[in-house]
Amino acid sequence: MQRNATANGVTPTTPHTPDAGEGAAFRRLFARVADPETSVPGGELIDVIRGEVLPASPGTGQSLDTLIREAAGWSSGTAQRFQAMGALAGDDGRRLLVRRAALGWAPLGLVSGAWLQWLTSPGTADAPLTLRILALYASDVGAGRPGGARGDAYLGLLRRLRAAENAVPLARLAGDPRIDDPAFRLPALLLLMSRRPDDFCEELIGADLCLRALGLPPPLALAREELPADWAAIDYSSVEDGGASPTEQCHAIAVALVGAGRESAARVYAGFGWTLAALRSQVESLHDELLASLAPEYDMAKLMRLRAREGLVYHRAVLLEDRPLAAWLKDCRDDPRPFLDVLARSNLVMPGRSEDSPLVSELVSERGPMFRVFSSDDLAVISRWIDALPPGPGPAKPDPRATEPDPGATEPDPGGAGPGLSGTREADGAQAAVGLTLGRQPLAMLPDLLDAAVPSGGAPKDLREAYHVLMARTGSPELRDWCLRYVRGWLARSRYRMGSGSVPLPDEWRTEGLRPWLQAQHDRHGAEFEEHADAPLPSREAVVDDAVQMAPLTLIDGSWLQGFTDYELASSQIGHSLFAIYWDELGNGEPTLNHPLIYRELLKEMGVDLPPTASPEFANWPGFRDASFELPVYWLCIGRFPRSYLPEVLGLNVAMELSGVGGSYRRSGMALRKYGFSTRFVDIHNTIDNVAMGHSAWAADAVDTLMSSLPDSPGPGGRSHVWERVRAGYRSLSPPDGFMARWAARRGRLAGRRWWRAKAVTPTTEGYAGV
Ligand SMILES: [Fe+2]
Ligand SMILES: [Fe+2]
Repeated sequence: MQRNATANGVTPTTPHTPDAGEGAAFRRLFARVADPETSVPGGELIDVIRGEVLPASPGTGQSLDTLIREAAGWSSGTAQRFQAMGALAGDDGRRLLVRRAALGWAPLGLVSGAWLQWLTSPGTADAPLTLRILALYASDVGAGRPGGARGDAYLGLLRRLRAAENAVPLARLAGDPRIDDPAFRLPALLLLMSRRPDDFCEELIGADLCLRALGLPPPLALAREELPADWAAIDYSSVEDGGASPTEQCHAIAVALVGAGRESAARVYAGFGWTLAALRSQVESLHDELLASLAPEYDMAKLMRLRAREGLVYHRAVLLEDRPLAAWLKDCRDDPRPFLDVLARSNLVMPGRSEDSPLVSELVSERGPMFRVFSSDDLAVISRWIDALPPGPGPAKPDPRATEPDPGATEPDPGGAGPGLSGTREADGAQAAVGLTLGRQPLAMLPDLLDAAVPSGGAPKDLREAYHVLMARTGSPELRDWCLRYVRGWLARSRYRMGSGSVPLPDEWRTEGLRPWLQAQHDRHGAEFEEHADAPLPSREAVVDDAVQMAPLTLIDGSWLQGFTDYELASSQIGHSLFAIYWDELGNGEPTLNHPLIYRELLKEMGVDLPPTASPEFANWPGFRDASFELPVYWLCIGRFPRSYLPEVLGLNVAMELSGVGGSYRRSGMALRKYGFSTRFVDIHNTIDNVAMGHSAWAADAVDTLMSSLPDSPGPGGRSHVWERVRAGYRSLSPPDGFMARWAARRGRLAGRRWWRAKAVTPTTEGYAGV
């Protein structure tokens, strides 16, 4: 945007043509990486991001505290500038500023904390530092509360401003034309980096620390005075229920990473410095935009430029000052000022008197030729512009032909014909001023690099290798393909001869939900335990062998739910309880409560000291039988597809959480006790998985929430069809094992491969979206 400074701020001249390159790329990127099943390849993409982030490092010579003070100082100073701007506007103008500020921050505000979403993985879920990161993240998503994430608080703010039309699902936000391109840059890159946690953990922690240091985002200082909202949650540094502040928690994590070595330290600092520079750029851009919008002409110019493309289709025969309106609109796309001048002189506009101007009355009324072309917000912008025009004697050149019906038009202007992805982009000067020029062009390539073929090691050659590579969140396209085939095969086996009574779940789901059934199952487990109380216990050798062979499974406890750490799912109506279960399995950030670590203690009592779970030595440990990796690999695979296999994951989760409660955990406890081993592992599960308030109950509730939302009709997407998928998921914890069942699995895998090769897209035939 070209600007002329005045005493009161900025007089807009001409917003320049939108840049459809890099700006649009960030919008596409944002939408793409919001997908919880997105696959981000390594290779060049990683290099491009590193080329962007690393040069912004402030160097490790100063303390993190100094950087935090710098960020906090900049934030509070900038917040005052936004507040001062609010004082320049009248009530209506300030209301528009608040709305614009909230929308301008929405791409970051709605994902507040999401960059931490994949920093736990099956292979690191017992590492103390990872658990501290998970604890930090859990507070950001409101662990266990639907709609409890910081982003949900931001959504509440947008709803209060009636600006949330495109905020759910998150990917839709990328199409909101009211938000300028620069607002997507930082959040898109942070989300992208979050999908490569092994490559960018340090940078993400540095970025997180910087964002925490900000406190309340500076542009929102405008809104805080005007609106009630959950400001404590929107403030990224605040803590809700006492305890250590998130900034202190993140600082401690960052200090640990800085202490881990020179490279690790450099990357933490780079993440901080790059984020602060990006924030300065983004906030300056938004500030300029808001300041410019104080002039009604600016908003009007922006609106006309946005709508000109659709409008010129319909107005070839309408003349304004002897020139076709379509021609004016065509030029308007590059420079709206001449069109605004001629419009102001036309008889559609009564300068200073919007209430008398046909442009915002007859023309847009229900019987007018431009009905619904403009939204109420648009009409407010036009009216504000008209009211600000200096009153004159009236149209200089009234042109009766200007409002003649367009013979070429057969229907009213459609208006608002879709926002598209190319919004406006102002204040490039501000961005250049902070020196963020490195990697500009390559960054625009990022959406394409997401689809680029990257050399990889191919698919795993056996179950042990699969187990090892699936310890990480990321992987090659070949690995994703392999996982999908494995899940398909496993589920085909699970469905083999799955008739009535072959699964403990009822044949039909009923509206009273699963709680009554759950109680009955618990009673049954208890009765079976009592019935077999006197049965001989297994030998010590058998107990130890069983514990060892279960280790590949138990040491990745909760990994079937790993997909529900995704930001959007973790506080969703279904996913909040699944995140809470995952969070519990990993000990709520406490190593002493971490189930894999508790299990390792038990194994040590048995004289078994296993290599680290994520190491290749673990997967190749000769004491494990190959078959002991079958179910763990299934967990690891299906956990990557929380959307595509939602019904199956929910069914598996019920089976998993209910499996030992009231019965087998107690019996296992007897056997462990008999040989002098700790029973802590089974005791903690028998309580935490309970059917009243524990994991079993939450698992059943999640199923009921899904089922209640479905149409009670036959066919794909209906309750009966989805219920069969839930039942198959339940059965998948312990599928039939005969020759024919395994043959069904083989057929399922091969069918998946043929289909996959043919389509090379996501698994929609199994996918929940296509049920
Ligand atoms: Fe557990
Ligand atoms: Fe559990």
